[in-house]
Amino acid sequence: MKETLETKNIGLRGVKVADTRISDVDGEKGNLIYRGLNICDLVTYSTFEEVSFLLLHDHLPKAEELKKFQLELVSEREVPETVYGFMRMMPKSAHPMDILEAAVPILAAYDPQLHDESRDANFRKATRLIAKLPNVVAAWDRIRKEKEPVRPDPKLSHAGNFLYMLSGFRPDQDTARDFDICLILHAEHSFNASTFAGREVASTHAHFYASIVAAIGALSGEIHGGANSEVMKMLVEVGEVNRVKSWVSEKLQKGGKVMGMGHAVYHTEDPRASILRGICSRLADRTEDRKWFELTKAIEASTQEEFRKLKGKEIYPNVDFYSASVYHMMKIPTDLFTPVFAISRISGWAAHVIEEKFAEAQPKPELYRPDADYVGNYCGPGACPYIPIEERSK
Ligand SMILES: CC(C)(COP(=O)(O)OP(=O)(O)OC[C@H]1O[C@@H](n2cnc3c(N)ncnc32)[C@H](O)[C@@H]1OP(=O)(O)O)[C@@H](O)C(=O)NCCC(=O)NCCS
Repeated sequence: MKETLETKNIGLRGVKVADTRISDVDGEKGNLIYRGLNICDLVTYSTFEEVSFLLLHDHLPKAEELKKFQLELVSEREVPETVYGFMRMMPKSAHPMDILEAAVPILAAYDPQLHDESRDANFRKATRLIAKLPNVVAAWDRIRKEKEPVRPDPKLSHAGNFLYMLSGFRPDQDTARDFDICLILHAEHSFNASTFAGREVASTHAHFYASIVAAIGALSGEIHGGANSEVMKMLVEVGEVNRVKSWVSEKLQKGGKVMGMGHAVYHTEDPRASILRGICSRLADRTEDRKWFELTKAIEASTQEEFRKLKGKEIYPNVDFYSASVYHMMKIPTDLFTPVFAISRISGWAAHVIEEKFAEAQPKPELYRPDADYVGNYCGPGACPYIPIEERSK
């Protein structure tokens, strides 16, 4: 019999399932690199458009390559009217992540290259979705508030244009740049749950859009991408810095979780959280409202102190912790935080789906097909007798 490895009930932690050329997370040192480049350099020198090119093409673009890519992104920002029509028929209470997930197959139906499985066509599909998802997220927020969607402004950057389509007002340069940095920070993180979901679907030879639908579904969970909006709910619930200590202590003693704290891979500070802490502080100064920054900082400190007492170990903020107050101060509605994560992570997902489809980091494409032990009813090798419905007692 073929030997299997015992890796049950550990959520695949530490189990290597593939090679990748896209990014690396050093959980011990707290480093994150995209295609060999440190995230700290990327947020200093790059833009989301350039980082998306880097993730997709494995190298930084030359000036003319970047210009061409930016123009392609701008020219693909519009979505078919059907997308707005579908939104107008949906109940206003529908969750923005569900709307986003449902809009992707509509976009698929309008893609002239949907069934073209060439590498080039997959890059085109990636560009289209990177360009269009911000429009979908912004339009849903406006339609549910009975406002007209705002048409994209080709003069604005990817980040600036999203904030504009959401509010109808062109953002100031500092806010647009801070949001651009947020998009860079959320764009890629190796084999996280949503990326793995997308890659698994790609491994079945399903089309590009089907993989992205799976990734969006996985991202929506509260212990993955859903954590950022849960952090905001927590900040609102705690309300005041002087309530932090007792709130955190009670939460942890009852076995609850402080959202935005802890990470499956980082055992030191997540480098993205350090950068976001800085943005949060800057925004607090600019908006002249330090409440959310101070509250977040106080929860971080109290959680660390209480965690040391209770578990004798350290815990650190993850990418979601400071991004909640950052987005709140940018006037992004709380239930849009996770869709905002998706409009950034689409670049990483796209790179992974293409890597999976074209076996760019392994010898050949392979269908993911793990194994499980059957622990259900068993009546012997011949299976259980089928009892006709009229003879079943209960
Ligand atoms: C992300 C997460 C799922 C990682 O969990 P993990 O891989 O089990 O992390 P660890 O193995 O380091 O957890 C060790 C212990 O700390 C606890 N812990 C981890 N994060 C915690 C948190 N935010 N609040 C309270 N306790 C936490 C775990 O429950 C575990 O307790 P146990 O030893 O009594 O079972 C977890 O930290 C979490 O749920 N965080 C909150 C949700 C969140 O912010 N998610 C976004 C991630 S980017």
